[in-house]
Amino acid sequence: MEKFLELKNDLIIKACKRMPTERTPIWIMRQAGRYLPEYRAIRAKHDFLTMCKTPELAAEVTLQPVNIIGVDAAIIFSDILVIPEAMGLDLHISDGKGPFFTNPVKNEDDVNNLKEPYPDKELKFVLDAISLTKKELKGEVPVIGFAGAPWTILTYMIEGQGTKTFSKVKKLIYGNPSLAHELLNKITIATADYLSAQIEAGANLVQIFDTWAGILSPRDYLVFALRYIHQLIAAIKRDEEPVIYFPKGVHYRLHELADCGADAISVDWTIDLEKVRRKVGDKVAIQGNLDPTVLYADPGFIKREARKVLESYGKGNGHIFNLGHGILPDVDPENVKELVKYVKEESKNFHSTNG
Ligand code: CP3
Repeated sequence: MEKFLELKNDLIIKACKRMPTERTPIWIMRQAGRYLPEYRAIRAKHDFLTMCKTPELAAEVTLQPVNIIGVDAAIIFSDILVIPEAMGLDLHISDGKGPFFTNPVKNEDDVNNLKEPYPDKELKFVLDAISLTKKELKGEVPVIGFAGAPWTILTYMIEGQGTKTFSKVKKLIYGNPSLAHELLNKITIATADYLSAQIEAGANLVQIFDTWAGILSPRDYLVFALRYIHQLIAAIKRDEEPVIYFPKGVHYRLHELADCGADAISVDWTIDLEKVRRKVGDKVAIQGNLDPTVLYADPGFIKREARKVLESYGKGNGHIFNLGHGILPDVDPENVKELVKYVKEESKNFHSTNG
């Protein structure tokens, strides 16, 4: 753990490695964002991609939830779609519509024309934001780097935007699986380089977001998603930096997930942690899994639900508290503060006093 000696709070690193901690660490997916008035104040002056690409602004909003909410980690402010952008797709994020590409991938020529990005060129702004955030944090909490999983990135590259039916990407994987695999390979290589560069720049751990994992059948999930997670994690250059994998909506592959190479698996709220823990055994740590909409309720209700999550995991090490998916933009930040305070205190009862 020598590399982490500079950290004053290394609870998340230890939890990922299932080492003893005095309490359960907590951070919140999409913790830097619109539910914070302090974020909206900066966002009112700059568009989203400008914020991502200006390291001073990215570092500033990365630090907001650490200082305001009290979470145990800072996740670097960026987006999973900067990788397809660096590969040559033209990314826009509109206020009403969310992200979209004007030139989604349609055929073999488009796949062949994609660039192999150099992280320290096309994605240097992310690496600079990480170094600057590290400097400003002075070891207070770890910095989390991240990327989208190959399957989720493929989905965006083919669909060109968010979708409810996934028609285009399903047409591709069923109609031209070899082209799908060719593109998944390219994305995997680019993402491994990118995550390795984030670690090199100072990320203490990384998370892989597989937001669309749950739309595949159990068999297709192995073929088009999990296979590339194995390749990706094996290719990330790291020493002791943990990898967290979040396959949203995947309950049917817990045995296989335990062997994917990740240190921790993040699960959504539609499965009990107790069941997940039973299935993955002591192979991986588990992150999750409060339903994000619980944060709309009053603090008493939030605490009772948070307690159920702690109880469901049970006593012992290897739990990282989080929501089951990203925080929603209209949540009251006071509720989030209450949640974090409660988990920090209450979770001590789930850890033995000698560590
Ligand atoms: O967790 C964090 O605080 C770090 C920042 C972060 C963002 N996006 C910032 C963002 C992270 C980790 C992401 C990941 C991301 N982006 C995912 C995977 C996680 C998930 O929620 O499933 C996905 C699918 C995306 C793609 C994306 N980017 C969408 C669908 C949207 C629009 C929806 C929305 O939340 O507005 C974005 C834009 C985006 N990414 C915003 C933020 C703060 C909102 C931009 C704004 O300020 O208008």
